[in-house]
Amino acid sequence: MPKITYIEHTGKEHVVEVKPGQSVMEGAVKNNIPGIDADCGGDCACATCHVYVDAAWADKTGEKSAMEESMLDFAENVESNSRLSCQIKVTDALEGLVVRMPESQH
Ligand code: FES
Repeated sequence: MPKITYIEHTGKEHVVEVKPGQSVMEGAVKNNIPGIDADCGGDCACATCHVYVDAAWADKTGEKSAMEESMLDFAENVESNSRLSCQIKVTDALEGLVVRMPESQH
């Protein structure tokens, strides 16, 4: 199973294995990783699963949908590498993925 590193805004790292087919958000919630609230449960309707994707992974995590772009307008401190983690599906190609959680989500 791909290992994903989630880094809290404090710098605390959590490395967990996430089953392919789950979202990056589900990987955090199922492993009780703080910093991803996911209030809407993954429906791309809350923006509380905001993460920053490490630059090396920008291509592999794919493009944002128009809906994701518009939901990100409601998130704080959005950067060019901001994503909604419920919209990133885990595949074997994401082995080693690193995402950081924003300070506003803790
Ligand atoms: S969990 Fe709500 S937008 Fe991702």
